[in-house]
Amino acid sequence: MKELVPPPPPPLVKDRQASVRSLFDRYVVPTYGRFDLTLSLGTGSFVWDVEGKRYLDLGGGIAVCSLGHAHPEITEALVEQSRRLVHVSNLYFQEPQGRLAQALVSHLALGKVFFCNSGAEANEGLYKLARKFGHDEGRFEILTAHNSFHGRTLAGIAATGQEKVKKGFEPAVPGFRHVAFNDLDAVREALSPATIAILIEGIQGEAGITPATAEYLLGLRKLCDERRMLLLLDGVQCGHFRTGRFQSFQRILEGVKAATGFEPDGLSMAKSLGGGFPMGAFWVRKAAHGVSLEDQLGPGSHGTTFGGTPLGCAVALKILEIIERDHLADHVRTTGDFLKSGLERLVKTYPSVLKNARGMGFMLGLELHERDAIPAFKSSDKPASLQLVNRLHTAGVLTIPSGNQRIRLLPALNLGQAQAETGLELIERTVKAIA
Ligand SMILES: Cc1ncc(COP(=O)(O)O)c(C=O)c1O
Repeated sequence: MKELVPPPPPPLVKDRQASVRSLFDRYVVPTYGRFDLTLSLGTGSFVWDVEGKRYLDLGGGIAVCSLGHAHPEITEALVEQSRRLVHVSNLYFQEPQGRLAQALVSHLALGKVFFCNSGAEANEGLYKLARKFGHDEGRFEILTAHNSFHGRTLAGIAATGQEKVKKGFEPAVPGFRHVAFNDLDAVREALSPATIAILIEGIQGEAGITPATAEYLLGLRKLCDERRMLLLLDGVQCGHFRTGRFQSFQRILEGVKAATGFEPDGLSMAKSLGGGFPMGAFWVRKAAHGVSLEDQLGPGSHGTTFGGTPLGCAVALKILEIIERDHLADHVRTTGDFLKSGLERLVKTYPSVLKNARGMGFMLGLELHERDAIPAFKSSDKPASLQLVNRLHTAGVLTIPSGNQRIRLLPALNLGQAQAETGLELIERTVKAIA
């Protein structure tokens, strides 16, 4: 795998950070608590801020930048396709969308794909699929897990198993209830005659990195088969080779005999699919419970203007081609194992700061003690996760906070071995300074 050579840093412009920030203060709806960092340039797994400081990007735009920043072949694919055809309505056929759907199906199982623009929208499609499937029986309820995250639309926050995203936006869209994650009995007990589907993430991302167990996935499949329900997976963050397999369930079920032939009924994708080009999609299994599932959503039942444009699909096809050509799935496995064992070593070496390391492939989490248990963090009212992320910025590395006590590493799938080593060194230096 070729490592990209970084370009020279951008020219120094005095007070650029303050001037950009003032634009946000004045004109951008303040839905995000942003870090004090203004980024202007990126190559591979490096980004630069407006003051010319370089950062190793281990956050990957929250699992989006599958091939890092400014990948020359992605730029080329964008330019090439934009010369031919950027957008046509979904009222017409076009080749890139058909070819991308075929490629995604080839990584899953027989079925079809619907294209949209984001993870929340991909999940919305799954909710509609489930409601359509259960409609004539009067079944509409979808069970999801505590600590899940499924997006910020009204149905997305109703589906998400975290109170903080719902607060202030009541009344909630009806038809969603939450159960404990990785607990089959909890699902069994929660079932009602109206329940039609179960939706979970293969690896929970937003509330810390928590993989589903193989037993849980297999148990859910059995339950759905017995009760004529759909098993829906949210692969928005944990999908697209982030675990070293196309989808996390494929990695989790590797080597499990009883998993032969395991298929979910629907699966959502976004984030890494377009590598920074906004894209979402859901895959639906060919048939389930004796009916054609892939054609449940017929003409006029669902749509979106920008879903699956020739431009977006050309980019996504190029990303898949590069992942395969450069053997990035294997690379993610080996480099992910290297990163995880490095993080585990840090947990052992600095037990006063770190509690555990979790995850697989390039979806890794590091859990910290509570703020008040870390003397260097005690005097600030910011949670431990934010304080560590800020200190890592000072050290020159980007990571993603997750709740109050966890940080996540979701780097580009082509993060080089040397860069992984640098990342671990920078994290160790930062943790050591507060231990
Ligand atoms: C598991 C999961 N599902 C859905 C979403 C929503 O995706 P989007 O922000 O593209 O709507 C996210 C976003 O972080 C996610 O992590």
